[in-house]
Amino acid sequence: MGKQKKVTVSVPINIALIKYWGKRDEELMLPLNDSVSLSIDELRATTTISLVTDAAADSVCINGKEVDLGKQSRFARCFNEVRRLARKRKLDDADGDKTAPSIDGVKFVINSETNFPIEAGLASSAAGFAALAFAFGRLFHLDDTTVVRIARLGSGSACRSVLSGFVHWRAGAAADGSDCDCISLASADHWPELRAVVAVTSGDSKAMGSTRGMENTVETSTLLKHRVSNVVPDRVVRLRHAISSRDFATLANITMRDSNQLHSVCLDTHPPLMYLNEASWHLIGLVHALNDHFGATRVAYTFDAGPNCCLFAEVDFIPTLLACLLKYCPSSGSPTKILEKLDKSTAESAYLGRDSLFDLKSISAMTDAVQYLVVSTVGSGPKVVDM
Ligand code: DP6
Repeated sequence: MGKQKKVTVSVPINIALIKYWGKRDEELMLPLNDSVSLSIDELRATTTISLVTDAAADSVCINGKEVDLGKQSRFARCFNEVRRLARKRKLDDADGDKTAPSIDGVKFVINSETNFPIEAGLASSAAGFAALAFAFGRLFHLDDTTVVRIARLGSGSACRSVLSGFVHWRAGAAADGSDCDCISLASADHWPELRAVVAVTSGDSKAMGSTRGMENTVETSTLLKHRVSNVVPDRVVRLRHAISSRDFATLANITMRDSNQLHSVCLDTHPPLMYLNEASWHLIGLVHALNDHFGATRVAYTFDAGPNCCLFAEVDFIPTLLACLLKYCPSSGSPTKILEKLDKSTAESAYLGRDSLFDLKSISAMTDAVQYLVVSTVGSGPKVVDM
């Protein structure tokens, strides 16, 4: 195969603390409200783009499976935009490689692997389209603003994975999207104590994908209008302040309330969208019982359009949290099964901690609520693995 240029990048998923749900323009992928997110360093998409001259068509392969590009117009939208920019700015020659073929003869061959199951509803499309856009950015020397826009054309939430640290995606108001952008509120090392614990509750695909789900919400929910106009703007201001002052309790409370409001507007959709399952509700109850026990907000939960849970806590609380998850979400098989993806010392301390753990009021254990846990640092950005 005649390959001219190639790049491999690795990009983390991001989880919103204040959620994006609803578009003001579907073609330009402009959101109705601002959102704020944090990346989960351990869960990543690794994507290689090769520019080839002897392929008949563009191709995309995700975790070994060929994507039917006829049915995936979002890829076409990203590809068309990259080609338009490359032609307009003759970017194919930007690195001085005068032997590079004209973009007109070039096809994109894309291979993407995620280190977590894509059907688990863990923002895989966000990491995937962010990786795609970031890789195109490297190949064609695009600036961050353009890379953010290309990622957004693939999937709205993807644009937040292009930057590192805490990321604020601003909805803007201009009809052409010129004031819709992403900014990094604080660098990845601003809050080194912060950790995420991802609890995978179910490997099932979503009942209804986010794109259609949010379209239905925009059409039918009255609560969404209240959220967009009266709730999110104030929450964003307070969350930004909590981030800059590293105020965990405020960050945690805003995060939990915003997750709950996302699922409330989902229930206010007609017909209702139900993304949480029994295990999700068990985890919500567990977090509140744990915070009540300590008389302080030590842990937060958040859920996207699926039943899997992302928990946030500071590093000193992680052993207690893991011991608590082990005690109240036991596996029917091996008792330590949910710890199998953790490093040995983290798993051992959770296991030892479980036996000496206090009892939580009004909570009983739910067997097999959680399949496995991932503990991760947060806030890293995309990186080039090979070029
Ligand atoms: C619930 O980015 O998947 O995860 O823009 O239509 O591709 P499209 O939707 P998508 O929506 C994600 C919504 C969410 C909340 C969030 O990440 O902010």
